Amino acid sequence: MQGIKLILLHDVFCPIYTVSSGLTARVVRAEAKRGERVLDLGTGSGLQAIIAALNGARVIATDINPQALRCARINALINGVGDRVTFKLGDLFDPVEGKSFNLIVFTPPYLWGLPRNIRERGWFYGEGGLLLKFLSEAKEYLRPGGRILLTYSTIADESLLKHGLRLYGWHSTIMASRNTPLERIYVLKLIRR
Ligand SMILES: C[S@@+](CC[C@H](N)C(=O)[O-])C[C@H]1O[C@@H](n2cnc3c(N)ncnc32)[C@H](O)[C@@H]1O
Repeated sequence: MQGIKLILLHDVFCPIYTVSSGLTARVVRAEAKRGERVLDLGTGSGLQAIIAALNGARVIATDINPQALRCARINALINGVGDRVTFKLGDLFDPVEGKSFNLIVFTPPYLWGLPRNIRERGWFYGEGGLLLKFLSEAKEYLRPGGRILLTYSTIADESLLKHGLRLYGWHSTIMASRNTPLERIYVLKLIRR
């Protein structure tokens, strides 16, 4: 995918049949710079972490799904960047407490509904607190001049997103978007107001 070789393990978010991963990957390729510290939050198969590492960034890839981290670690090795990506298990920013980044990449699960298992945590946002928690805490993990790439969709709760951006003082710019028969998916760049 986009020149990256990927294997996929059971229960890991599949980046191949979803528009969001490829769209995000194109923006990450343009944004992540050599020497930067990048957080790929909710790494899934590791695609975004690998692209940032291939650009020369030092990356921490996290996920709440242990199987995703196994998968991402294998994919980083296959693509020759195993030494530039560190993998950490945990919820949102818990695994990177006290660290800061030039770039944070996150595609939150944005479908309405309760996840029934770990695989579905890649898709369904459950009680809905995840996005607001992310937007409220992210500033503590950004270096001066740092930015966030957040991928979202018109089938998600866009009023919640707008509310969170306003409430927590984020300025957003659309970096890329793509229409499918069901939705428009877009990648936002967020910077502090
Ligand atoms: C929509 S998928 C995106 C995967 C990958 N970033 C990509 O572009 O293909 C969301 C990912 O976030 C992870 N995730 C869900 N809730 C999380 C949380 N609270 N903390 C960390 N990761 C989480 C899921 O396990 C899944 O791998």
